[in-house]
Amino acid sequence: MAKARSVFVCQNCGQTGNRWQGRCDGCGEWNTIVEETQGPPTASRAGRGRAFELEGLAGGAEAAPRISTGIDEFDRVLGGGFVQGSATLLGGEPGIGKSTLLIQACAALAQRGARVIYISGEEAMAQVRLRAARLALAAAPVELASATQVEDIIATCSAGKRPALIVVDSIQTMHSETADSAPGTVTQVRASAQALLRLAKTSGSAVILVGHVTKDGLVAGPRVVEHMVDAVLSFEGDGAHHFRMLRASKNRFGATGEIGVFEMTGQGLAEVPNPSALFLAGRDAAAPGAAVLAGMEGQRPMLLEIQALVAPSALGTPRRAVVGFDPARLSMILAVLEAHGGLKLGTHDVYLNVAGGLRADEPAADLAAAAALVSSLTGAPLPPTQVYFGEIGLSGAVRPVIHCGPRLKEAGKLGFRHAVLSALQQINEDDRNAGVAARPFADVGALVAEIARAAARRRGRND
Ligand code: TYD
Ligand code: MG
Repeated sequence: MAKARSVFVCQNCGQTGNRWQGRCDGCGEWNTIVEETQGPPTASRAGRGRAFELEGLAGGAEAAPRISTGIDEFDRVLGGGFVQGSATLLGGEPGIGKSTLLIQACAALAQRGARVIYISGEEAMAQVRLRAARLALAAAPVELASATQVEDIIATCSAGKRPALIVVDSIQTMHSETADSAPGTVTQVRASAQALLRLAKTSGSAVILVGHVTKDGLVAGPRVVEHMVDAVLSFEGDGAHHFRMLRASKNRFGATGEIGVFEMTGQGLAEVPNPSALFLAGRDAAAPGAAVLAGMEGQRPMLLEIQALVAPSALGTPRRAVVGFDPARLSMILAVLEAHGGLKLGTHDVYLNVAGGLRADEPAADLAAAAALVSSLTGAPLPPTQVYFGEIGLSGAVRPVIHCGPRLKEAGKLGFRHAVLSALQQINEDDRNAGVAARPFADVGALVAEIARAAARRRGRND
């Protein structure tokens, strides 16, 4: 019988070779070649396959049964709860709060009578218990184990009543007998994930796999698992701030635009049902250089404060610095303001910051950024109950953006009365009733002129 042999496979392009190399000949990528063991080929079934029944598209589809986690923000991202028999990957940087979120979800589910199993491959039982005690969840009937052997885990989960939810934290620590490379390698991660996926499909339990991802995403593991699972969630946040966002980048059973917002507190993750109010808290509406963007995070409207500081520079080459904003977009907005707004910014330092450690990556943020920049340059504060959204073209034209309705409604809900937007923006009759009056601008030059007039009036009053 043929023996298992080892091959060297490029994890980027899939090219195989007989020896390890630093650089793949196929795609030219460095450090992508990994040794894998290939088992003896199974007896050929050529010409002996069994024909199966083919069916039409219509009929036979029922809504997938779901299990609510008991955490609304989590359920929202999943599209209403975990689907039975599905596998979900929860990715995120180490320390972001994945284990905390999952132990909270497990406890909430177990407290409502479901059987929940939490397998920790990273932490000892004592550590998991310590976290549960800190979260005041020690009394929840979650079944806990510290294990890394996938076959043992499957045997444990298959015995007794069918668990509603099985959490495996993390997939990188798992080890399967079917592959003999070390834990954490692509081969091991793939084999372990495959075995756990089979467990989900055959038992009908929802399985969550935790996966660590580093900033450059190069760690062996989660990337290969992404293709295999039904849903991929990522838990994101900024270490310096307490906000955490849960997003679905893939979901076979729901939409991917939904996001859930949490705040890391001393007692675990707290849901943030009204993020706009939180992000705008502490805003100094009377200060120049701050504009409120009526933004979108996926399908969810969210108001963010964009802050600008424009000051005469002492340097030959003035500084341009951004936090939470694309530097290339800032350069473009500055160029348009110079060309079509008549501003002189070449001798000024420019800083742009999105408050709260958030990011404003959509084109709709252009108009808010431009308003904040002009406000800071002229020293005129912007009207406190006004929001901004619109894309700025290189010609200076203000262009319409998608999701106008939700943006206006969110602004109205938080007490804003005016929205500066594109003159070409289509507004539904229904959205006009959100209590926010549209202030259409066709050209960014007109907005600059309006802010400059306000600044001149202000100076006139002060003289
Ligand atoms: P953890 O869930 O262990 O992160 P991950 O599983 O993604 O690696 O959470 C790690 C951080 O969260 C840790 O630095 C401490 C902090 N934390 C709190 O601030 N409050 C809490 O109640 C808990 C449990 C953790
Ligand atoms: Mg963890």
